[in-house]
Amino acid sequence: MFQAAAKTLSLSRGASFSIRRYCFKTPAKLRVSEAVSGAHLGANVKVQGWLRSVRPQKANLFLHVNDGSALQSLQVVASSELNDPLLTLGSAVEVTGTLRKSPHQKQPVELEADQIHVVGDCNPVDFPFKKKERHSLEYIRQFPHLRCRTNAFSSLLRIRSEATTAVHSYFKENGFVQIHTPVITSNDCEGAGELFRVEPSGPENEEGEKFFSVPAFLTVSGQLHLEVMSGAFSRVYTFGPTFRAENSQSRRHLAEFYMVEAEVSFTQSLEDLTKVMEDMFRSATEHVLAHCAADVDLFHKHVTPGHRNTVEAMLKKRFPVVTYSEAIDILNHSSQKFAFPTDWGCDLQTEHEKYLVKHCGNVPVFVTDYPYDLKPFYARDNQDHPKHTAAAVDLLVPGVGELCGGSLREERLDLLRARLEETGLEDTYSWYLDLRRFGSVPHGGFGLGFERFLQCILGVDNIKDVIAFPRFSHSCLL
Ligand code: 4AD
Ligand code: MG
Repeated sequence: MFQAAAKTLSLSRGASFSIRRYCFKTPAKLRVSEAVSGAHLGANVKVQGWLRSVRPQKANLFLHVNDGSALQSLQVVASSELNDPLLTLGSAVEVTGTLRKSPHQKQPVELEADQIHVVGDCNPVDFPFKKKERHSLEYIRQFPHLRCRTNAFSSLLRIRSEATTAVHSYFKENGFVQIHTPVITSNDCEGAGELFRVEPSGPENEEGEKFFSVPAFLTVSGQLHLEVMSGAFSRVYTFGPTFRAENSQSRRHLAEFYMVEAEVSFTQSLEDLTKVMEDMFRSATEHVLAHCAADVDLFHKHVTPGHRNTVEAMLKKRFPVVTYSEAIDILNHSSQKFAFPTDWGCDLQTEHEKYLVKHCGNVPVFVTDYPYDLKPFYARDNQDHPKHTAAAVDLLVPGVGELCGGSLREERLDLLRARLEETGLEDTYSWYLDLRRFGSVPHGGFGLGFERFLQCILGVDNIKDVIAFPRFSHSCLL
């Protein structure tokens, strides 16, 4: 019975129907978002989508049709004559009828159907989502090929799409040039050794030659390529997939995630960077709140109740700034017992980051001037002592911890060369040293984890719930 059935259900046209139903004008095809807007009342229209609910009553049949254009579904009212076993949750339909005012305040517009075409049926026994059940994010995560059909995940994906637009708008409005940095690269920007190697899948050629002649990897960061471009365009950014072979099942790490990275030339101090980081965060968050109100509400009301207040509090004041040394003092004066050490020189762990955020009033907080030895070769030496630091900055946010990492870059040729020599990397990075030889300027940049940004504004606990197809160790579904 449920094998790719398609069926057209039409009314036997009785005298009770108005003239409009008999006119031969082709009905206008509308998206559900357009249909529910109220701008087309009285029009004869065609709407296509998937059934989110089916409620047969004595005289009438009520359907909710959703096509992904909005969280809201369109209520369809049909004569019970049109009811059919093929009309089930999840089936694809095309409904033709007239848009009219609905007596229900929650659904001010409804479609009075005169024809329903079942485009594709859906076996309700096997379909993993059930009528009237609110499925948890954990549950729907098991169905990466179907979870976009749920309210929560379709809202998430619309928000993600709009947040992407917001990021691009921010940079466009602020004079940044977008650079498509490469996905395949021969450098290991972070030097953290969390690289995926790229090789052809077929057998090696006879000489055992590598495809690129050099080892090639999926990028861990577009920073070094952006630094090249900041030497010509002053302000550049990139926004794309980034890969880390972190053997982690944590709620904030993925093997493939999206990073927003910016690089700014002619910086005076870390403040020039923190300003861009904060302004971009604010502008993207405000854009999402304004353009995806219903979708965001779904999260703030049903998935993470109360999170709206946290987000509003985040946007109220400028983000506080503490130095790493001050952060260590704060941690050492806390009554909380931490699992990891908090001596000066230790890396800040998630538990420390979360404590610092709480300590600062549960708002985003910048931590600056990390120990020099903790930071990669490119971080600018503050040349201070005895506590030797680099001009690096992280942005820590409520619920997530580290959202952004950045630094001023070492633009002084002698200092950079010396540091690369210490690690034997001066030949590998001779091109990078060239950037300091030919018109070097003070500059800096940062990277923002886009999934963590979504977690932060929506209050979603697990990073796997804010990306369409999550990839992490032992999991690469679809
Ligand atoms: O702090 P990270 O490693 O910084 C860099 O890669 C710099 N080169 C960026 C730059 O200066 N242009 O990564 C930046 C951000 C982190 O703060 C975090 O939000 C996110 O990327 N991130 C991850 N997100 C999800 N899964 C992972 N495995 C992540 N690793 C980093
Ligand atoms: Mg970092």
